[in-house]
Amino acid sequence: MANTKEASDEAVVRTAPLFSALDDESAATLRASMTMVKVPKGNTLFKEGDAGDRLFVVVEGKLKLGTSSMDGRENLLSILGPGDMFGELSLFDPGPRTATATAVTDARVLALAHDQVIGLVTQHPQVSLELLARLAQRLRRTNEVLADLVFSDVPGRVAKALMDLGSRFGVQKDDGLHVNHDLTQEELAQLVGASRETVNKALADFAARSWVRLEPRAVVVLDYERLSKRGK
Ligand code: CMP
Repeated sequence: MANTKEASDEAVVRTAPLFSALDDESAATLRASMTMVKVPKGNTLFKEGDAGDRLFVVVEGKLKLGTSSMDGRENLLSILGPGDMFGELSLFDPGPRTATATAVTDARVLALAHDQVIGLVTQHPQVSLELLARLAQRLRRTNEVLADLVFSDVPGRVAKALMDLGSRFGVQKDDGLHVNHDLTQEELAQLVGASRETVNKALADFAARSWVRLEPRAVVVLDYERLSKRGK
């Protein structure tokens, strides 16, 4: 059992940007220099504004990256799952953490000291290219989110968020795509930048049209085509 878990951990880690460009031997050396950190559900790994000295790769579970406004309102930048990397901005652009990382479910993450990342990218230029590719993808996605905030209505943004969560966490079953996002409706609202009431209304409308079935902290996408059209 322990071996199966270890093997599946390794498979996840191998897909992370730091590792995917490395040969097996360098990947094993890198993995040995990282520390596993357990983050129980609801716990915060680091806060926006903290000094950052490590980057992380999610091995198991989900975390949310969020920022708060002066008056305490929260906005979610991203939901992270296995294989996702975070905590590198404060390394490449030295300064405080740009977001707060909180576990949405019990999670395990591997941590690597920023100094070690510098050593890694100097020795393996292909790792730098991989990291640049991920940063570019993130900028692309952030631009899209910004455009959606300006050009799309709330139901459109909810549909898009469900499609995105579905592509990353969904499991196809006979009755549809099961998306266990583990988010409360408040968190879903923070992810699409709208009030909980408006997001609830959009979800109820999708359910009434039989595009989705709502479950606690999950949705089942029943009509993928219509939902994705609404999110375009
Ligand atoms: P860092 O600033 O060290 O800590 C917070 C992390 O959140 C940051 O590094 C990035 O890894 C991540 N992050 C910040 N902004 C975004 C974003 N818009 N989308 C996804 N991840 C982000």
